[in-house]
Amino acid sequence: MPIIAVSNQKGGVGKTTSTLNMGAALREMGKTVLLVDLDPQGSLTVAAGVVDNDAIRTSIGDLLMARAQGAPQDIMKAIIQTPAGLDLVPGSGMLSAAELTLATAMARESALLATLKPALDRYDYILVDCLPSLGLVAINALRAADGVVIPVQADFLAVQGLAQILETIEAVREQLNPPLAVYGVLLTMVDPKRSHAQRVVATVRHSLKGKVPVFETQIVQNFAYKEAAEVGRTILEFQSRGQAADNYRQLAREVALAAGDEEITALQPRRGGLFAAIGRFFRGLTGGHASQETGRTLAGAA
Ligand SMILES: Nc1ncnc2c1ncn2[C@@H]1O[C@H](COP(=O)(O)OP(=O)(O)OP(=O)(O)O)[C@@H](O)[C@H]1O
Ligand SMILES: [Mg+2]
Repeated sequence: MPIIAVSNQKGGVGKTTSTLNMGAALREMGKTVLLVDLDPQGSLTVAAGVVDNDAIRTSIGDLLMARAQGAPQDIMKAIIQTPAGLDLVPGSGMLSAAELTLATAMARESALLATLKPALDRYDYILVDCLPSLGLVAINALRAADGVVIPVQADFLAVQGLAQILETIEAVREQLNPPLAVYGVLLTMVDPKRSHAQRVVATVRHSLKGKVPVFETQIVQNFAYKEAAEVGRTILEFQSRGQAADNYRQLAREVALAAGDEEITALQPRRGGLFAAIGRFFRGLTGGHASQETGRTLAGAA
């Protein structure tokens, strides 16, 4: 089932927080989820509550290194369970070494996809938390992915990097992975009380309109996300009721819709009236579900 890359070369924009909590929310919806910590810092592994380094037998860095050296190992042996009951392939510093070794390997952009292949049939969703870079490891994530979620901090400087990731996605689509869809840009750390944040939100929504999808869900600025990560818990466990957890529940539904998850699309209320009927008629003609539509939107905009 879909591989989703959570990617942005800008650091500290909420990639890891979004991967973990979106994963927890999909799990709550009854989905099976595999998280992949594709960052040598291993922040997702820590935030997911894996404190015991002995529990980590094999990291994604080890797997990519083994593949780059022509001796692939089975990903299923690397999967560990987090305290929240999510499956995780942990990250480690080995990923930096793997990136160097991959550079001269055969099919170097496809090593992650080949590594994930045995897990594809076993999970409803595979979420890949990318490192803040657009190097070979990050390209591997975009090559493997069906869709991308792009967290962007509601801050003027953070938004400036958006063009770069969108250009990279376009290049990956042209050269390596034509069906790659942008599921959406996700505005994070939105402070409803600061007019600066509101201006950034309005600018992003306006400038991307009709070109790149932006999730309706916005993630609020809330200290609870940081506190939860510090004690290795998801926001759904740490503060199950309230806006912080609900933000990621709502995002998970939007992502599932973008991914064309039939269980979730079937639950959507059917809109009545003539416009809805026309919409259904055209969707029928194009055979499109949401992810294909978003893919076309961006491709058409380029
Ligand atoms: N909505 C939010 N409100 C408040 N703090 C947040 C929010 N989202 C994330 N944070 C905090 O901001 C910091 C950066 O978030 P996170 O680690 O998710 O970003 P990242 O994009 O994965 O960073 P990196 O590029 O270093 O991997 C963390 O301390 C996290 O707990
Ligand atoms: Mg991170």
